[in-house]
Amino acid sequence: MRRLLESVKYFGLRKLYYLVKSGIASLSEFLVNEGISRKEWQQSLVKRQISKTLITDYGGDEGHNSNTTQYFLGFGLIHYALVRNSRPKRILCVGSRKGFIPAILALACKDNGVGHVGFVDAGYGPEEPTKHWSGVRFWKHMDPAKHFGKLGVSSYITTHVMTTKEFARRFPDITYQYIYIDGDHSYEGVKLDYELFWPKLDRHGCMVFHDVVARGRLDQGKFGIWRFWQELSTHSKIIFPFPKESGLGILQKP
Ligand SMILES: C[S@@+](CC[C@H](N)C(=O)[O-])C[C@H]1O[C@@H](n2cnc3c(N)ncnc32)[C@H](O)[C@@H]1O
Repeated sequence: MRRLLESVKYFGLRKLYYLVKSGIASLSEFLVNEGISRKEWQQSLVKRQISKTLITDYGGDEGHNSNTTQYFLGFGLIHYALVRNSRPKRILCVGSRKGFIPAILALACKDNGVGHVGFVDAGYGPEEPTKHWSGVRFWKHMDPAKHFGKLGVSSYITTHVMTTKEFARRFPDITYQYIYIDGDHSYEGVKLDYELFWPKLDRHGCMVFHDVVARGRLDQGKFGIWRFWQELSTHSKIIFPFPKESGLGILQKP
């Protein structure tokens, strides 16, 4: 009898043991499946955490057609797609308040496993009312390697705190496959950047301009990219004329 009771007890415990074990297994399977499918469902084309960081820490504003509450990267996605597809080795990026587009370009190079961004910004701020074009002197006090290091892209980008004229003089022999211009927004300024860097763009490379439809004044600067863009009659041009305060224009070198 005692042996019988012991075997019942033993059998009961074993049963309990297996019940608990299989219960835990199904529960964890359920949690894993739920977790994975929920994660996949929540993921967008560009992961949200990184988009949030790009918008908040790197200054992705509505001028880039971004949505700062939904962390939509706007024109940043156009740059990312162009660079991912054309796989440029050398990219030139001119002008950024806190690094939004340069960071996206560097991320595209990192994701490509090839390419490097030369980023040029004079680091102007409100003290230079004719030149800053909304610049905040960010690059005058920020360590660029540390800043871009937060996204793990510092080895894909080199920052030059100087004017484009000075940069072109110091590095006359570099050519590029992708160029983005968002620096001096006056007619004379954008024309100078075009003249400095169009000859440095390889065949089939893209030169992209921000603010091609912006009009009026910013502090003491008068927007002139729209006029420059209208005068480019020899090029076939792609334009995204929105939002109406900025816009994006693309030229491809034949
Ligand atoms: C229009 S803001 C950039 C705003 C931009 N939409 C963004 O995403 O931050 C212009 C930037 O270009 C820089 N800049 C202006 N003139 C420049 C020049 N001649 N050479 C280099 N950088 C210049 C300023 O220091 C400023 O940071």
